[in-house]
Amino acid sequence: MQTCQNLEQLRMQVSEWRSANETIAFVPTMGNLHEGHLSLVDIARQKARRVVVSVYVNPLQFSPDEDFSSYPRTLEDDLIKLRAAGVDLVFTPDDAMIYPDGKQDSAYVEVPGLSHIVEGEFRPDFFKGVATVVLKLFNMVQPDIAVFGEKDFQQLLVIRQMVDDLNLPIEIVGGRTKREADGLARSSRNNYLSPAERENSRFLSESLEQCRRQIKQDIDITQAENACIAALESHGFTVDYVTLRETSRLKKVSKDELALNRELVLLAAVKLGKTRLIDNLIFTAEKVTVGS
Ligand code: PAF
Repeated sequence: MQTCQNLEQLRMQVSEWRSANETIAFVPTMGNLHEGHLSLVDIARQKARRVVVSVYVNPLQFSPDEDFSSYPRTLEDDLIKLRAAGVDLVFTPDDAMIYPDGKQDSAYVEVPGLSHIVEGEFRPDFFKGVATVVLKLFNMVQPDIAVFGEKDFQQLLVIRQMVDDLNLPIEIVGGRTKREADGLARSSRNNYLSPAERENSRFLSESLEQCRRQIKQDIDITQAENACIAALESHGFTVDYVTLRETSRLKKVSKDELALNRELVLLAAVKLGKTRLIDNLIFTAEKVTVGS
């Protein structure tokens, strides 16, 4: 496995692979890798001859009150995991390479619509930061395929829209959310939870599951969302949102649309103490009988 911080070296390697007609799959990460990331690497390995992973904690997607400075940086450990996972090249750019004129004075890309709803209402510049760094990384790595986790479902949609709108010749692949044994979605931020919060955190996926069951049983959508919020609050969570949306543009879903059996996503963001967690469930509204 090669590691490189240098753009020339990356480009030379990529063009060597291209001349040999080898396909390239790319997994962008911010490091502190866990099973969720490694499952994306597995997908990348199945889809292409060569796999590139980037590790870069992108300052542009953090607001001043977020955890940029304390975000866990564990490169040595990450490299061990990536080598064992059969990655060909790990790209570790620094801020000077990504934002040579400083993050405020560089060109950026913004995906309208999707970036400003749901998660975007709580983190107004987040998707601009993500889309900008991902476009830069795409231009540097020039992959055929890129893999993103469905855990960050709205991020996956923003990237898909950017790729479609800007005609980038890259196939975007989503990887299923990996969960702990008690249902908590894997995330680098889970490490921030105290033992008591970690114990409590399982109620997030449990409450979403209960909400999904209610929606499938034809309970009014707002009533089901509100019941989910109340359940989470009763377990000590502060809830930013629990909302049912359709899976292409995250539009709100009416009761009539449920009957059309569209693919839906139940999205949630909560805080437990100081830790912000997001999760989602993807399903269709096909009816189930009570108890299933
Ligand atoms: O999902 C992440 O880890 C980040 O948002 C990404 C896609 C690597 C961009 O910094």
